[in-house]
Amino acid sequence: MAHISGNKVVLVGNGAVGSSYAFSMMNQGLCDEFVIIDLNKEKVMGDVMDLNHGVLYAPSPTKIKAGDYSDCHDASIVVLCAGAAQKPGETRLDLVNKNLAIFQSIIDEIMKSGFEGIFIVATNPVDILTYATMKFSGLPHHRVIGSGTILDTARFRYLLSEKFNVAPGSIHANIIGEHGDSELAVWSTANIAGMSLKDYLEQHPEHEGELDSIVTNVKEAAYHIIEAKGATFYGVAMGLMRITKAILNNEEAVLTVSAYLDGEYGQQDVYIGVPAIINRHGVRQVIESKLSDDEKALLDQSVTTLKQYLP
Ligand code: LAC
Repeated sequence: MAHISGNKVVLVGNGAVGSSYAFSMMNQGLCDEFVIIDLNKEKVMGDVMDLNHGVLYAPSPTKIKAGDYSDCHDASIVVLCAGAAQKPGETRLDLVNKNLAIFQSIIDEIMKSGFEGIFIVATNPVDILTYATMKFSGLPHHRVIGSGTILDTARFRYLLSEKFNVAPGSIHANIIGEHGDSELAVWSTANIAGMSLKDYLEQHPEHEGELDSIVTNVKEAAYHIIEAKGATFYGVAMGLMRITKAILNNEEAVLTVSAYLDGEYGQQDVYIGVPAIINRHGVRQVIESKLSDDEKALLDQSVTTLKQYLP
């Protein structure tokens, strides 16, 4: 099982998500070398200059440069943010045909470089495009990871933290399924300090009945943000940085990414948001949370939704 050696990261797609991810990576000082690839070479040059001018104030220096697909040959990680983004009124799944075509050409070029690291996919519909990246690249499925529901889980924990006045990192509650309208909250295992949310609520009756709207707010968050400012990018960029950090630091961290199911949750041959252990090899293991019957039915529905779009 190949594992990454250095910590060179290549970003393909320097739009709002990609450039926010680049800024986040520089601020974290996670890698020695960060290469940006985009058709808009002018903007890449501008971002490279702009980012390098801030490196002095980063925790550790990152060499940021403009590049091309040949730079992928010795990359540990290639992050795919290229493609069309949702417009107001569009669902993520509406983007599938346009972005599948873009991915076919991009991945062919990357694989010609001899890339044998790990892909992280952000472009929507992310579960479908992560599956396509595995198929188009021929890499083993554990080395192709989608951002999945890492942002939805962050939104969920943020809203719960606002409700209970407890830090998001101290609330263990996941969103799984499609990164999209069929995602679901795993209430049955959600807990604060090991106390189930159900028991915690009994101690805080003032919040009774307030939780139902939280999942709706998570599911609708992107639509509201897109209506307000045209796109979403900071939250997902932080999620991409988090996955990158878990790989580069060989963390064995549990994150709700889009991972390949090979029998887990009774499903085969699909990428979908589930808790998975992430290390320098990619996805070490998918964790099969104990779901209630209702949650399992919703996850099965989400898989069915996604499978209609697989290439
Ligand atoms: C969102 C985009 C990343 O949920 O799909 O904000």
